[in-house]
Amino acid sequence: MANERTARELEHSRAVRDMFSGIAQKYDFLNHFLSVNTDKRWRRLVSKKLAEVLAREDALVLDVACGTGDLAVELQSAGRARIVGTDFCRPMLEIAFQKNRKCDPAIPYVEADGMNLAFADNSFDAVTIAFGLRNFSNWRDGLQEFHRILKKGGRLAILEFTTPVVPGFKQLFNLYFTRILPRIGGAVSGSRGAYEYLPDSVSRFPDQKGLAAMLEETGFSGVEYQNLTGGIAAIHTGTKN
Ligand SMILES: C[S@@+](CC[C@H](N)C(=O)[O-])C[C@H]1O[C@@H](n2cnc3c(N)ncnc32)[C@H](O)[C@@H]1O
Repeated sequence: MANERTARELEHSRAVRDMFSGIAQKYDFLNHFLSVNTDKRWRRLVSKKLAEVLAREDALVLDVACGTGDLAVELQSAGRARIVGTDFCRPMLEIAFQKNRKCDPAIPYVEADGMNLAFADNSFDAVTIAFGLRNFSNWRDGLQEFHRILKKGGRLAILEFTTPVVPGFKQLFNLYFTRILPRIGGAVSGSRGAYEYLPDSVSRFPDQKGLAAMLEETGFSGVEYQNLTGGIAAIHTGTKN
């Protein structure tokens, strides 16, 4: 049964959706520019983690909070599994849909809230989410929903910004993330707020161990994570028992 959303959660979701609607046109450019294309390598690593599932022609994989579709496209190009993308922000999905011109078969995109998906229990062989969970108004409800729609033995992979682990680099990166990135992101997208929200939301999100614990509490087993680029981001994986 769908979880009841509090007024605060609904307001959070609306604000997030409006924010991404406002930056959708500049989102891809800024992603690649501000990360010096590192984001592409991180998404490739997600597909490597799921190589076994992606190789199967009969596998069905859902990319939640797919945004402009870069992870969905990467997953499709990495194997033979059928990929579906979902997001609650239509302007982001419209850009993902345009990328279907280069995809064969076209990736189906579904407009939906990742915490309340209209898919049946035990539907997917893998669920992925890149830079999305942190934006949910309730992370645990999101994880429960992913768990619900996964088949037994299904795999979850979460790519998310997290806490850098290398001393020295951590301070340098924080300076870039909190001072420089919002200025460039704000100037290019016209929404400084969106690029101030980014480091803010990362600071509120659980660190690597915290997220791993949350996955275990949700019922995922074999939970592991790999730090990427000194811990700027991490990929968490787990399996539904
Ligand atoms: C930072 S973008 C990431 C997009 C894409 N996954 C990527 O790797 O570039 C975050 C996306 O999460 C979506 N999002 C945030 N909360 C969501 C929710 N509750 N349900 C569905 N999508 C959500 C936003 O609309 C946005 O497209």
